[in-house]
Amino acid sequence: MQAIAAPNIALIKYWGKGDSTTNSPASGSISLTLSADTLWAKTQILSRDTANNINGPTMEINDSPVAINDSVLRLLDGFDQCAYWKKTPTPCTSIVHESAEGLPRDISIISHTNIPIGSGIASSAAGAAALTLALDNYYQTNFDKITLSCLARLYSGSGARSLYKGAVEMVYEAAAHPLLQWRAIPISVHPSFYSLECLILLFSCIRKPLPSTEAMNKCANHPSQKLRLSCIPTRLARCRSALQTGCFEELAEVCEEDWKCMHNVVQEATGISYVLEEGRTFSEWVTDQRRTTSLQAFCTYDAGPNCVIFGFPAALNRIRECYPHYQYITCKISW
Ligand code: PMV
Repeated sequence: MQAIAAPNIALIKYWGKGDSTTNSPASGSISLTLSADTLWAKTQILSRDTANNINGPTMEINDSPVAINDSVLRLLDGFDQCAYWKKTPTPCTSIVHESAEGLPRDISIISHTNIPIGSGIASSAAGAAALTLALDNYYQTNFDKITLSCLARLYSGSGARSLYKGAVEMVYEAAAHPLLQWRAIPISVHPSFYSLECLILLFSCIRKPLPSTEAMNKCANHPSQKLRLSCIPTRLARCRSALQTGCFEELAEVCEEDWKCMHNVVQEATGISYVLEEGRTFSEWVTDQRRTTSLQAFCTYDAGPNCVIFGFPAALNRIRECYPHYQYITCKISW
């Protein structure tokens, strides 16, 4: 059976790792999950016979083989661990229990996606969620949503949030086992926001110069990153409250503040700018139009050059009319 998942776009970004064994984030984050009607990752797991002397998992994305990296192995270890816990009443304290039963790993992971890979449109989030759901189908583990979100996080930190529709927050549950502490949960949204849509403005689909994990590691000890992390709890509270009260202006302001802050950290710590000059000029125009003409839209950038614009349909139409020469993908949000 093929599992399908959609990308999610962070409003308050996950940027920074906590514990590497569990691929935990250094802070919470909030996102909106897009509809899988437009952008998707689809993954299927097949049993593989080992007659050709290949043992363990193999993986292909869009018909090209990809190496099995640490993220896949961490995810498979997580499945072993959670399957073991399902059969025993009390979770142990170590990350991987010595007697955790190994689920079969002679598998082919076959994934397809229509999302440009590595260009900051959350292809890894959709891929992580689709892979986690596909493994859950294949192993018939029937894990609950929280466990699945924690497992997806083992593959990609942002992937945990694609397990849910709508607005999703990454939260920390201190009482849980370290593997299950950082999990995604859905958050409520004011009904007036159900008509929000998303426009992705494609500036470039070339792979980003520095993958997110490497960039996050380079940022880890930089003073600007420490300052950003100290601001996150307040931003999360502002974003959550704006979503719940339906205050678009406040949502726009806090989201723009956060992506700019994240990209300043990247620039200061690595010398790299994911956002192109053209992108900065465009998003400044959107901010200016919102503040002066009530254009109900705002921009955000993940670790890549492409701009994600959230707004009400009339505002998104106006943007397209003002900038007709750009290439856009129109997406609904999945509520
Ligand atoms: O999940 P990763 O490791 O690909 O991290 C990506 C993080 C951002 O997309 C830049 C922000 C986010 O919260 O999605």
